[in-house]
Amino acid sequence: MLTFIVILLWKRILLRVSIKESKLFKRVVHEQFPIMKHEIDCRVVIRKNNIPGKETETTGQKGKAATRRDRTNLEKEKGINLIWSDNRQHLATVNLARGNSVYGEKLVLKEGSEFRLWDPFRSKLAAAIIKGLNVKLLPRSKILYLGASTGTTVSHISDIVGNSGQIFAIESSSRVARELIFNVSSKRQNITPIIADARKPREYFSIFDIIDIVYCDIAQPDQTVIAVENCVVYLKAGGILLLVIKTRSIDVTMDPRKVVKQEIRKLEQNSFSILQTLCLNPFDKDHTMVHAIYNPKSSK
Ligand SMILES: C[S@@+](CC[C@H](N)C(=O)[O-])C[C@H]1O[C@@H](n2cnc3c(N)ncnc32)[C@H](O)[C@@H]1O
Repeated sequence: MLTFIVILLWKRILLRVSIKESKLFKRVVHEQFPIMKHEIDCRVVIRKNNIPGKETETTGQKGKAATRRDRTNLEKEKGINLIWSDNRQHLATVNLARGNSVYGEKLVLKEGSEFRLWDPFRSKLAAAIIKGLNVKLLPRSKILYLGASTGTTVSHISDIVGNSGQIFAIESSSRVARELIFNVSSKRQNITPIIADARKPREYFSIFDIIDIVYCDIAQPDQTVIAVENCVVYLKAGGILLLVIKTRSIDVTMDPRKVVKQEIRKLEQNSFSILQTLCLNPFDKDHTMVHAIYNPKSSK
């Protein structure tokens, strides 16, 4: 009987804690990004760490959970802005192609600048930034982007790096690349669209600069190997790799945490040090962003 009462009490305590957590989660996320109100799974528990199921972060910024992103830090980061629109706060970039909306995102005029709202449900980079990605996307950065698609994320990076930066946007599907060229790169000077297979990095030809950042989002089972091969050819020593791991496209039967670990091991075996591993939940359920630095033995 006593055991039964103890179990009952314990269950009540656990229930209260989880209700509190989900309320806090809802409140903080809705305060910052209320647009997502209907899409957030409220059962998601705030984790100290962004790696699902792990208690301590590998390296990088300790304990930076999705909702704890420091607003003032974000505001200080060049090119990435938090602005108010419709009584809500949104991630945004200053539009490099004034008057032009790429994927139906809202344009907001503020103090003479035109901002494009950046939707974390449409762009994994925006989701990663909200989840605490600590990468410097500086004006003048040269970026090799694998899996450009129609240019949703490419366009925001284009806003951030400005006309002195350059994005080499690789896309293998000519149908998709046509949209990228027509809607995005033709309206911006800093995007070089390249219709090519990311598996053959030596065949791009039009890359004319040393690359500071490789961004890889191609949702292929061998995406880590592809990313590494591109880095070997183009990324400078000390450069950054941002790799989006779609765990389901690597092995649908394997525990997602094991898939992430396995891919991280591949990077570590190829001269990368992992700075951050960010699970993109609740914005993108199957994806993890790995932020790594490239330290090849012989520098380029
Ligand atoms: C998930 S989508 C990328 C979305 C995009 N990063 C964004 O945020 O807007 C993946 C893209 O990678 C492209 N892709 C897949 N395999 C590729 C390859 N081997 N080489 C180049 N692009 C590839 C696909 O055609 C698709 O457009």
